[in-house]
Amino acid sequence: MNRPTHPHKMVQAATAAGTTEGYMPGFGNDFETEALPGALPQGMNSPQKCNYGLYGEQLSGTAFTAPSHQNERTWCYRIRPSVKHSHRYEKIDLPYWKSAPHVVDDVVSLGQYRWDPVPLSDQPLTWLTGMRTMTSAGDVNTQVGMASHIYLVTESMVDDYFFSADSELLIVPQEGRLRFATELGIIDLEPKEIAIIPRGLVYRVEVLEGPARGFVCENYGQKFELPGRGPIGANCMANRRDFKTPVAAFEDRDAASTVTIKWCGQFHVTHIDHSPLDVVAWHGNYAPVKYDLRNYCPVGSILFDHPDPSIFTVLTAPSGVPGTANIDFVLFRERWMVMEDTFRPPWYHKNIMSELMGNIYGQYDAKPQGFAPGGMSLHNMMLPHGPDKNAFEGASNADLKPEKLDNTMSFMFETRFPQHLTAFAAKEAPLQDDYIDCWADIEKKFDGTPGPK
Ligand SMILES: [Fe+2]
Repeated sequence: MNRPTHPHKMVQAATAAGTTEGYMPGFGNDFETEALPGALPQGMNSPQKCNYGLYGEQLSGTAFTAPSHQNERTWCYRIRPSVKHSHRYEKIDLPYWKSAPHVVDDVVSLGQYRWDPVPLSDQPLTWLTGMRTMTSAGDVNTQVGMASHIYLVTESMVDDYFFSADSELLIVPQEGRLRFATELGIIDLEPKEIAIIPRGLVYRVEVLEGPARGFVCENYGQKFELPGRGPIGANCMANRRDFKTPVAAFEDRDAASTVTIKWCGQFHVTHIDHSPLDVVAWHGNYAPVKYDLRNYCPVGSILFDHPDPSIFTVLTAPSGVPGTANIDFVLFRERWMVMEDTFRPPWYHKNIMSELMGNIYGQYDAKPQGFAPGGMSLHNMMLPHGPDKNAFEGASNADLKPEKLDNTMSFMFETRFPQHLTAFAAKEAPLQDDYIDCWADIEKKFDGTPGPK
């Protein structure tokens, strides 16, 4: 008796259903993508001759011998090898972009600080000249710590390119739209989204809609990864599928160009005669990524009390000490508050970690006034902070029905290292001199008699 070779016909999905045009879903996936058909070698990395006359080149984001679950590298197939995108270097000065260690003699970093939004600029400022360092922590030379920056961008980089050998950049836009044209593809970024540009990746930044302003966390240390969820399980918080990495894109363009390199806290420029964005195909897991913060699924308290703010961690960059991050990126977004008999805002506390916050939009629950969209605050290592008097009195006397915190999105760059203010943060940026007065009129209620006051 003859049996049919394929007795059952299965219904097969179309490729990449539901994926945003130009991106591939997933965090830390082993991606593969080609802008020209057949440009990506199959089954091997380094053929004797690559298709289209491309050059094969590996970009290593971790040491060759890093454990396999942390090992990151990408194979690029490009028009010219990167040695052609680099000549002799000369040092240049970008006076507003600082790196740790950067301790300014006449600036007091010990204190609780808050800033109004740094005004949008009408000056011609690029991604490089518009970067304004607010704080730095750790030491760029030993690859520990971070810096926080505000960017003010009004002009596109045209024939100018950049990479940071010092750091990966976590970008949090607050106004305006930017395009990151990178060696590995194009990321368009707008407020409520974030992006990570890996260490060593060459790119230029174009203004799609300006002026643009936002926050940057410059991570000198181990790469950002997703936090372990522990008993929360396999879902919620930031889900891997919601991260998006661009498909391959290249240009074959001859033009006098510069490449600026941040290396050990110093800036250097080299001149070339073509665009370095010439990767036609690539595969690997070391790549830029973006994420829409509106996909962040907050998990919280459903009866009483509330957990530590680490429950809202989006990304964490580990240090050598387990559970003690070089940087946590934490998001405070819309959510329901339902806890019974509970003081619901963030409690008063002191913390070994140093907390730098920024407001993307709306109102933050511990500080109903004064922390404006575009503004920042710093609560440094072991400095007390918490709700202001209005927030305390309001939350202490509120009718505790379920309440939605709506129209709110703030974030925190939290680091195990103390953060030092730059001269720009202390003297040029709109520092609120009276910020610590927000706790001035908190009353002593204790009078020795029992019962709530
Ligand atoms: Fe705090």
